[in-house]
Amino acid sequence: MKGSFQLIVTFVTFLLSATSCYYDNEEALYPSLNTACDTTNVTFSGKIVPMLANNCLSCHSNATAATSGNGIRLEDFADVRSQAAAISGAINHTGTYSPMPKNGSKLKPCLITQFEIWFKNGTPNN
Ligand code: HEC
Repeated sequence: MKGSFQLIVTFVTFLLSATSCYYDNEEALYPSLNTACDTTNVTFSGKIVPMLANNCLSCHSNATAATSGNGIRLEDFADVRSQAAAISGAINHTGTYSPMPKNGSKLKPCLITQFEIWFKNGTPNN
């Protein structure tokens, strides 16, 4: 009797330890995280506007720039084009530019890559 109890305890302990280490695989759970960075269809309207809207316009929209964005507007095409070199330095955290997004974590590499493509293409209004 004592022997079979010990056997059960041993078995349960084994089961618990065998199943306790389970790691979720992020890429399996969220396949969208694994999609490749789109570097071929980089347009102002398709890639740059959403990036700015999601990460920058809280401080740099026409309405918020004066109070939160040091007067720098990044909502209209002409404003973004004129700031393109500074944006590049700010999001890459290079040169003497203030790192952006301010007080936030650096943008995802894909977003930076797409901005650089648009910038090197001559900041087209497409
Ligand atoms: C929380 C508010 C906030 C957010 C979000 C933000 N900025 Fe800024 N940004 C500022 C402020 C304030 C300044 C003025 C410089 C400073 O205080 O660092 C600034 C300065 C800048 C400058 C000028 C940098 C220089 O040194 O000349 C650029 C370009 C810029 N921001 C672009 C961006 C971009 C692009 C994003 C989004 C990826 C962004 N900012 C997100 C508040 C913000």
